[in-house]
Amino acid sequence: MIVCSCNVISDHDIRDVVSTDGELCSAAQVYGCLGCTVRCGLCSHSVKRILEERPARRARHLEDLGATAARSA
Ligand code: FES
Repeated sequence: MIVCSCNVISDHDIRDVVSTDGELCSAAQVYGCLGCTVRCGLCSHSVKRILEERPARRARHLEDLGATAARSA
């Protein structure tokens, strides 16, 4: 899904950058990594929401690893 229509950036583009660089913490940094800049700013809430998903996704990944370890024990 296109998140930023000004720069034609999808949620997948943003998730790829966010998962590659765990240090990103702002929409401006995400856009910088994608080689563009925030224009109208309408997408910044969506970008922030994707950034905020990271801890939840990381926790789920760790839970999955724990479940895998428990199954193999
Ligand atoms: S929709 Fe992303 S800068 Fe305009």
